[in-house]
Amino acid sequence: MVYQVYPRSFADSNGDGIGDLNGITAHLDYLKKLGVTVVWLSPHFDSPNVDNGYDIRDYRKVMAEFGTMADFDRMLAGMRARGIRLVIDLVVNHTSDQHAWFRDAVTGPGATHRDDYIWRPGKADGLPPNNATAFFGGSAWTKAGPGGDYYLHYFAPQQPDLNWDNPKVRQNVYDVMRFWLDKGVSGFRMDVIPLISKDQAFPDLTAAQLADTAATYAHGPHTHDYLREMNREVLSHYDTMTVGEAIGISDAEDGKFTAADRHELNMIFHFDASNVDRDGWRTKPWALPELKAIYDRLYGALGKDGWTATFLTNHDKPRAVSHFGDDAPRWRVASAKALATMSLMQRGTPFIYQGDELGMTNYPFTAIDQYNDISAKNLWHEQVEEGHVAPAEMLAALAKTSRDNSRTPMQWTAGKGAGFTQGVPWLAINPNHVTINAQAEESDAGSVLSYYRELIALRARMPVLVSGDYQDIDPGNRDIYAFTRKIGDDRLVVLINFSEHVVDYALPSTLRLKERLIDSVGAASAMAGAGHVALQPWQAAVYRYESQ
Ligand code: NOJ
Repeated sequence: MVYQVYPRSFADSNGDGIGDLNGITAHLDYLKKLGVTVVWLSPHFDSPNVDNGYDIRDYRKVMAEFGTMADFDRMLAGMRARGIRLVIDLVVNHTSDQHAWFRDAVTGPGATHRDDYIWRPGKADGLPPNNATAFFGGSAWTKAGPGGDYYLHYFAPQQPDLNWDNPKVRQNVYDVMRFWLDKGVSGFRMDVIPLISKDQAFPDLTAAQLADTAATYAHGPHTHDYLREMNREVLSHYDTMTVGEAIGISDAEDGKFTAADRHELNMIFHFDASNVDRDGWRTKPWALPELKAIYDRLYGALGKDGWTATFLTNHDKPRAVSHFGDDAPRWRVASAKALATMSLMQRGTPFIYQGDELGMTNYPFTAIDQYNDISAKNLWHEQVEEGHVAPAEMLAALAKTSRDNSRTPMQWTAGKGAGFTQGVPWLAINPNHVTINAQAEESDAGSVLSYYRELIALRARMPVLVSGDYQDIDPGNRDIYAFTRKIGDDRLVVLINFSEHVVDYALPSTLRLKERLIDSVGAASAMAGAGHVALQPWQAAVYRYESQ
């Protein structure tokens, strides 16, 4: 049961408005009580924070705002004492432009670290080496230093891509991994890992390739060779867990990263579900059968022995309840519980993003200057300031999709600073913390938090929920998500009402309900043996069943 901590927004122990490692240490009992067994910590390394830590200046140093290495060691020891493992973020597709390697590389051809990055001359007509675009907007090339060459950056210009074809770079990365593993870290979440290998010919991209740069960049020639090498040289020598952020990878390609006999990674994150309503930066309507079909395809591609990670959101996505549920006061609690049931009862390792266990919602953003995220600011610049899109349209889209929605501070209490900070928070705290907060939910048996604890405990005691087969028993149903999990005679059915009305759901005739294991509403809604279940709006329930 993995819990993602975004350290900047989790808990601030020293009043500077920025979350820190001591803040995490102070809340370990909270994580333990929730049932968390692994923490994934978003980057905690020294960084100028152009992309909030995903631009690393020194891989062996803790970000000053987050604390010291002694704080890190204390946090890790506190986790281990509670039986919680720590997985850290490995961001090695790129470094910060302030990393010592890049500062040397930019001094010109012949510099010791020049080939740690990817340099190419521009085209004769003053254009960059090719037409590749960066995820945060503009060209993927920036001219720098003497000689007039350009360096490659798939993200911001302050995030130059490392040259993985240089064996020295790979050895440096492996050394960084060993440094943290030797400290007692248990593995890595690997940032944009499919992008590490590049087609070094850098041909101009076609319009189709440019329309999906994630897929284009994710299919370099040597990714799997490098991951196998990393596994052989580093991972196989430790007891680790790895999860790759598989942007641009189709579910059919999963096995190439995760099949046990390939010795690469343990799991990858797929974004099809969280992108079900996305069309570039715009949103589009979606219906439940599409979401179910995504899970079905994923399990189909994984096969019986394949393994995956399941999640509803992370620090790059809007809040789960605002995205897939209904965050209006009337349905927020019910729909957050429904979504938790959907995610935690799936077949895979569940990842919970901080605050989701409270049913935290999107922030009510109304103006561009309320945003911190580089991708929102750049998008505004490219689309609105350059006159392509009306401000109101972009504001409406950002309010729904911005990464800052999930980055607002954790809501611990109803008090000033939400129990997150005594100071001025780096990003605004959602005003709804006065009602949505851990303290209030702690003492409420009907809260989202209490329900998460129940679900996690249920999963922990029932192996069928971990490794049992998954089957969607009603793929076309637009209101109800109904799936079974089974191993041998251990058979469960999960029923979730995604609508705002009561649904009298007729079960397949072969399925006889026996025992209700968990119910998000709490009221007895079905009799054992009944051929149907009356599900309240957004109600979720898990039953044992017998086949007949
Ligand atoms: C994925 C990370 O999750 C995101 O936050 C970051 O901006 C990019 N990779 C670049 O590192």
